Amino acid sequence: MKNIVAIINQKGGVGKTTTSINLSCGLALKGKKVLLIDLDPQAHSTIGLGIEPGTYPVALNDVLVNKKKMAEVILKTKQENLFLAPSHIRLDRAEQQLAPELFRETFLYKTIQNLHYDYIMIDCRPTLGTLTVNALYACNFIIVPCEISRYALDGFSDLIETIENVKNHDELEKEKYIRILLTKYDPRNKVSNEWVLQQLEPYKELIFQTIIRKNEALNQAHMAQEPIFTFKPDSSGGEDYQKLTTEFLNLCHQSEKN
Ligand SMILES: Nc1ncnc2c1ncn2[C@@H]1O[C@H](COP(=O)(O)OP(=O)(O)OP(=O)(O)O)[C@@H](O)[C@H]1O
Ligand SMILES: [Mg+2]
Repeated sequence: MKNIVAIINQKGGVGKTTTSINLSCGLALKGKKVLLIDLDPQAHSTIGLGIEPGTYPVALNDVLVNKKKMAEVILKTKQENLFLAPSHIRLDRAEQQLAPELFRETFLYKTIQNLHYDYIMIDCRPTLGTLTVNALYACNFIIVPCEISRYALDGFSDLIETIENVKNHDELEKEKYIRILLTKYDPRNKVSNEWVLQQLEPYKELIFQTIIRKNEALNQAHMAQEPIFTFKPDSSGGEDYQKLTTEFLNLCHQSEKN
């Protein structure tokens, strides 16, 4: 089974890109061959891996609307084993161009069928539009980063409903595992942390044991356009994403056995 992982939350700034980059890099460092698909026109994963948008001739928008092959747009990154399908601001227009197409939610899935990677990770934009639905259709593992804040669960039921809708229309009936990743945890905010965890009680089986702490090094790594593992591996952010990589790999091995 191919491991195709969509990192999704329609809320902005919750850690989707930080998780996409650092979990992808963590897996690559473990010797896995990883493709990160930057499905967000903001191109933050592309920039975060040190690649400037526009410095490459073709990008994901060309795959989705101009019939380019996915293999034609994939770039090497500085990290061995880690490859990138870069985004471009034109991906926004591509999403609109897809609107009248029949079976538009299956386009991404079709473009990745003949690729040979151990893991394909998809960084999504903060909406539940056609691009995100393409990621949901293509994937068999969904990671929902969830910032520990008063508004953490706003829109959460919409997200679950969208996931269920896609599942119900998935002709291939692919199993989809869902895990929630708590991010930007600050132990000093005891009361609000407890409040959020209480709200998440109905979903507690789905929450990763690893919690990503708030850590300025993660922010700085993003500005330096590097994964945390090369920027500051011994930071708490480095430790947390290392732990997440191990937990994620264990989950994948378990699900393969079942
Ligand atoms: N654990 C953390 N500690 C401190 N800063 C963080 C942490 N995780 C993410 N950030 C910072 O928060 C900001 C938003 O993170 P990120 O870009 O990963 O979110 P996102 O969900 O991808 O946002 P968008 O919805 O715009 O795509 C970035 O500046 C990032 O560096
Ligand atoms: Mg992002």
